[in-house]
Amino acid sequence: MNSIPPEFEPATIKSRSAPEMQMYRAEVASQEPMKSLLENNPDIYFVTPMRSSSWGEWEFKRGSYYDTTIGEKHAFWQGKDLPQPSKDLGQLRADMLKWGYCKVENALSAEQVAVIKQRVMEQAEGERLAGVAQKTPSGQNINCCVNKGQCFEGFIEQHPSAVQGGALIEQLVTEALGVGWICTSLIAAISLQGGVPQALHQDQNNALDSRSPMTINILTPITDVDEANGGTLLIPGSHLVLSEAVREHKPVGKLPPAINLDAKAGTMVITDGRLLHGTGINHTDVPRIVMLNGMQKSFLRQQENWMLSVSPKVLKRASHKLLHRMGYQATTGTQTNEGHGFGAKGLAGEAAGATVDFRLAADRGQYLRVGELGPNSTQEELQAAYTLRDVVSKARAGGKSAPVGIGGSTDGTVSTLGAPATNPS
Ligand SMILES: [Fe+2]
Repeated sequence: MNSIPPEFEPATIKSRSAPEMQMYRAEVASQEPMKSLLENNPDIYFVTPMRSSSWGEWEFKRGSYYDTTIGEKHAFWQGKDLPQPSKDLGQLRADMLKWGYCKVENALSAEQVAVIKQRVMEQAEGERLAGVAQKTPSGQNINCCVNKGQCFEGFIEQHPSAVQGGALIEQLVTEALGVGWICTSLIAAISLQGGVPQALHQDQNNALDSRSPMTINILTPITDVDEANGGTLLIPGSHLVLSEAVREHKPVGKLPPAINLDAKAGTMVITDGRLLHGTGINHTDVPRIVMLNGMQKSFLRQQENWMLSVSPKVLKRASHKLLHRMGYQATTGTQTNEGHGFGAKGLAGEAAGATVDFRLAADRGQYLRVGELGPNSTQEELQAAYTLRDVVSKARAGGKSAPVGIGGSTDGTVSTLGAPATNPS
């Protein structure tokens, strides 16, 4: 038996990997910007109860970041030009750039709000009755909404039937993230009386020095929100302060105070993923509902594992756009399926990148993956009805000019698939 070269022995590797020897250590091990942020803003520090046994044991501390109010009532923020509800693209862009959020007025009509509200309240009760409700420190979350009502499919897709301002929302998100962006999750966040505030945080938890957002969170109040019922806590402009601090390797100094978001039901509040924010305290006995619909660049891993969680019923009727949002569309070199999707640009409906048929085959118990093959494989093995053949065949039939991309080409070259496709679905 050949001995392994000593350089490959774990003990040797460990002895040669002291922290000061490691490359990129300062970057990889950095705890900024939160480290200096918490040191210089002690009122922001807050740890929410992690277990039900500590539920309700927190104490309200006067002067803490969650002891605040809406911008126009806040002594520090009064008179500043904080974002106001608007349908004006120019104003909304300016608000995003300066403050890290904007408010799209009446993005949902009153009727659209009512549909979502009824479904959320019914689902919340149903999940409690079924014993599968997700209790949060603030109240209750409904996860993976896409399986829980057709209205949520249109919501994620920002279809005008569900979101009358969808086209305007998409324009702003595309400007922020670039074409091809996808959805990370859709959660209904319900804050209840007695809940605790969430620690301030950034949704974008990587590339914190970025000059533009990598993620966007669209907050949609389904009930009016304000300082009384737990309007989202946020620090306007913090997206710039924090990213600049990381980029320039300097500590975060004293930050301006947090405010409660105030917005009418049906407003869509688009937030930059770098903005400091957290769920507020609901001081009323009426549930506060906000839909959390995060969007992100397509190469980032999604919060919801849509590949497993989306129901077959939803997948079968999903539009190209909804499939793309959930990640069932290969993007340039990422999330290919058995190589299907290389060369695809990751645009909705692009035949070369559509991967949902693999999942549907798996649901039927018929997903036949290409496994070990070689010169001695049997004819049965070589001619097997691999699902890859069906998917590629369908892609070729549906996308005349689009590269099929089998074979790992990333330059758009179409390579060949040996046997003719069988049993096209
Ligand atoms: Fe968040």
